Amino acid sequence: MNLEVVVLAAGHGNRMHSKVPKVLHHIGGKPMLQHVLESAAALHPSRIHVVVPREHNAFIDAISGDELNWVIQDRQLGTADAVKHALVHVDDESLLLVLLGDVPLIRTDTLRKCVEATRAGVTVISAILKEPNSLGRLVRDTDGELIAIVESRDLKAAHGNIDEINSGLLCVPASLCRSALKELDNDNAQGEYYLTDLIEVARVRQDSIQVIQVDSYAEVLGVNTRRELAAAERVYQKRLVDSLMDSGVSFLDPSRIDIRGEIKAGVDCIVDINVVFEGSVSLADNVKIEPNCVLRDVAIGAGTVIRANSHIVGAVVGSDCEIGPFARIRPGSELAEETHIGNFVEVKNSNLHKGVKAGHLAYIGDSEIGEQTNVGAGAVTCNFDGSRKNRTEIGDRVFIGTNSTLVAPLTIDSDAFIAAGSTITKNVAAKELAVGRSRQRGIKGWQRPR
Ligand code: UD1
Ligand code: MG
Repeated sequence: MNLEVVVLAAGHGNRMHSKVPKVLHHIGGKPMLQHVLESAAALHPSRIHVVVPREHNAFIDAISGDELNWVIQDRQLGTADAVKHALVHVDDESLLLVLLGDVPLIRTDTLRKCVEATRAGVTVISAILKEPNSLGRLVRDTDGELIAIVESRDLKAAHGNIDEINSGLLCVPASLCRSALKELDNDNAQGEYYLTDLIEVARVRQDSIQVIQVDSYAEVLGVNTRRELAAAERVYQKRLVDSLMDSGVSFLDPSRIDIRGEIKAGVDCIVDINVVFEGSVSLADNVKIEPNCVLRDVAIGAGTVIRANSHIVGAVVGSDCEIGPFARIRPGSELAEETHIGNFVEVKNSNLHKGVKAGHLAYIGDSEIGEQTNVGAGAVTCNFDGSRKNRTEIGDRVFIGTNSTLVAPLTIDSDAFIAAGSTITKNVAAKELAVGRSRQRGIKGWQRPR
């Protein structure tokens, strides 16, 4: 049977107390809704319909995906009403998988099982949870068959204590869903049309009802509040960190790390605490990262050490480098092998060749620096003349003395030597010593002012 997916994302999310729609709040650096869409897309459905409110520009800006059909639900009258809006676009012959934008951690494998279980009738995904609070409960008869899903606000004493909760996700043939929804009303504590009432309709019609119970509630954790958002973030982080540890990366404390994007790592990498990985990060073998570093969209070569408190964004760092502590590497920077960047050095949009050293307090911007060149403490490339960015080209084995000011555009050829404290405004030839500073005078008999 052809599969179509509906993702419900139009609710206000009042319990978040936010101006941002709930499902656009982030987990692991991307919107919850994006997580759901990616899990769904992995099933290769023929179409994914996303139910959103009328004001949905923020959704279009924040979400990416192929062939998404944005369905507008003008008034949020409940989950059944949301599905009804999507059904207008769904083929009668299709199997319909209903997902919730605020249940972001669902695994594709579980969804696949749910779809496979749905030959006819309805399949719901449930979990066991000791303190189910505001979640819907699965009501079973004495034979253990699911007969209804009751929202927590509609629970009666007769229901007793039920610890099996409704994930909100279900799979049903579109034709069955379409006719069953016609029979639902909003006679409940919230005055909403509940999709969960589908179960009672299916039971009356003697359609088959299946339940897939996940091993851990964490997989179907519903995010309605910021506390639940934070809980979902931790679950997600643990998943990523566990899989990296399983493939040979050590985390000195796996609970004090954050991955907000994709990370690939070789073996024997060691990551200390409070490291944040963002965007697309790749670590080769034996990379060591000390505490409090941020790495966004970077590739780090084998054996490189990133010392504490370094901030590296949009850069490629070669093998056997030593970066930091307190280094800042900005976008467009490529650092070849054995580079050493020390404390309070900023590098932007520059190519540093093998073995370049800039140990302290320097700014290297829009530059090309040849092999084994040494950049002294406090050296600065003046790359901006007030209107344009200009380049500084430095050859191999150049010595840039302490506190030099290199006014770009500028070329300094190989083996040149820049005297400390120089302001260099003209090109320097190979092997030349350039001294660009005023001569020191000694004034004999000078009197201190009184
Ligand atoms: C829902 C389920 C509950 C389940 C829980 C799991 C119903 C009636 N209840 O409750 O059984 O335990 O999820 O997390 O289905 N939405 C719309 N349009 C609407 C209303 C909601 O698109 O008119 C969307 C929301 O954006 C949200 C999702 O549907 O992504 C679920 O709505 P929400 O209000 O969070 O339902 P819960 O109270 O969590
Ligand atoms: Mg919810």
